[in-house]
Amino acid sequence: MKTVITFGTFDVFHVGHANLLQRAAALGDRLIVGVSTDDLNIKKKGRAPIYKQEDRMKIINSLRYVNFCFEEETLEKKAHYISLYGADVLVMGDDWLGKFDHLKTLCEVVYLARTPSISTTEIIEVIGSV
Ligand code: CTP
Repeated sequence: MKTVITFGTFDVFHVGHANLLQRAAALGDRLIVGVSTDDLNIKKKGRAPIYKQEDRMKIINSLRYVNFCFEEETLEKKAHYISLYGADVLVMGDDWLGKFDHLKTLCEVVYLARTPSISTTEIIEVIGSV
């Protein structure tokens, strides 16, 4: 059983998120997703996500590529979550290229190319300007 783990906010769910999760799932037998909490986003990005964490978790849990998701409370505990869930592969979008190479002692680390021309930030800006 090969376990893949990935992390993200997944706010205002879009096709870039779906592509990332689909490709991550294809790298193993089960996919576990750490969904960052509202508090973590407020601390790191200075604003709360549009969708609250229970709703972001519900959307991620409802995807057929995803076997299980949990709340990621701090960015600094990736090693802990990898061990806790027995992950063999850590997948991150290539906006994080190189940032998690130190975890290669624990598991395989794979950076997947982002889907071009879409992001939550951009969607919020476009909607805000309509
Ligand atoms: N992602 C992707 N392609 C995109 C947007 C996101 O592959 N076009 C991936 C990210 O690389 C990450 C995961 O989806 O692995 C969750 O990303 P997240 O930061 O929640 O989404 P963004 O749309 O990038 O949000 P923001 O604009 O707020 O950074």
